[in-house]
Amino acid sequence: RDFTIAIDGPAASGKSSTARAVALELGFGYIDSGSIYRCATLLALRHDITDISAGAPDLIDLINKASVDIKFQPQSTRSAPNLITGRLPVPDVRILLNDEDVSEEIRKPDVNRLVAKVASDGGVRSAVLGIQRALARAAETRSKSVVGKEGVSSVPGGVVMDGRDIGTTIFPNAELKIYLDASAMARAIRRWDEMNSSLKRAKPPAVPATAENTPAEYPSVEDIARELEERDYADINRQHSPLRIAKDAIVIDNTSMTFEQQVYSIADLARD
Ligand code: CDP
Repeated sequence: RDFTIAIDGPAASGKSSTARAVALELGFGYIDSGSIYRCATLLALRHDITDISAGAPDLIDLINKASVDIKFQPQSTRSAPNLITGRLPVPDVRILLNDEDVSEEIRKPDVNRLVAKVASDGGVRSAVLGIQRALARAAETRSKSVVGKEGVSSVPGGVVMDGRDIGTTIFPNAELKIYLDASAMARAIRRWDEMNSSLKRAKPPAVPATAENTPAEYPSVEDIARELEERDYADINRQHSPLRIAKDAIVIDNTSMTFEQQVYSIADLARD
């Protein structure tokens, strides 16, 4: 069996960029399980299914019929130094929902607000589980030879998956489990910085800015902190596979670690 690394933790603890950089470093595949819940939430919003308190059979049906593809692109990296990544390359990931690229849309505020609610439904979670397992099978890379400092060695194939319940429920037998955490303020500042740098990358409008084509005012760090806190509360207190630290997980608090330190320490744990 291929080597599986499960990375869990609260919102904006750096799971996704860490998991991608670790996957690049080890030559593994990568699956962002949160993006599948975000796709499910986008389906709910597009079909006006916003009350799922009494179950969501229509939504479950839509998820079962949907195709979700996570295109991990190790060859295309964003290495621009910023607060989050430092100088270490972080591969790009594109999310396709029914062949439509929804990578940007699933990060929007209306999805952020609804996703923890959608993810709390047991039926939705089982439907997402099917997609997760299928993607994991497809993402595993085969063993291969690598040329490193110590000459040529053979590394096993493997996959890195990040989320909330990967080490506890999805892959309870994962070879390496990491629980990534950081202080609430550090997480809010990083998410704010991440949103700002993606705004800076966006092309300016071709037409002069008007009230209609100017994006609504950017959320403050305090707004983001509040949103993360609400989502964490919902994720920790839900009935079905809540956010927990797996018994055999290694907890890494990265509040005052550099991105490089984190990535290399996880990659080293995997190599041991
Ligand atoms: O990137 P961020 O940490 O903001 O969140 P995400 O990983 O994209 O996950 C979004 C939401 O999906 C979480 O707040 C959870 O409600 C849900 N989720 C989950 O329930 N189980 C997972 N394995 C992954 C995400």
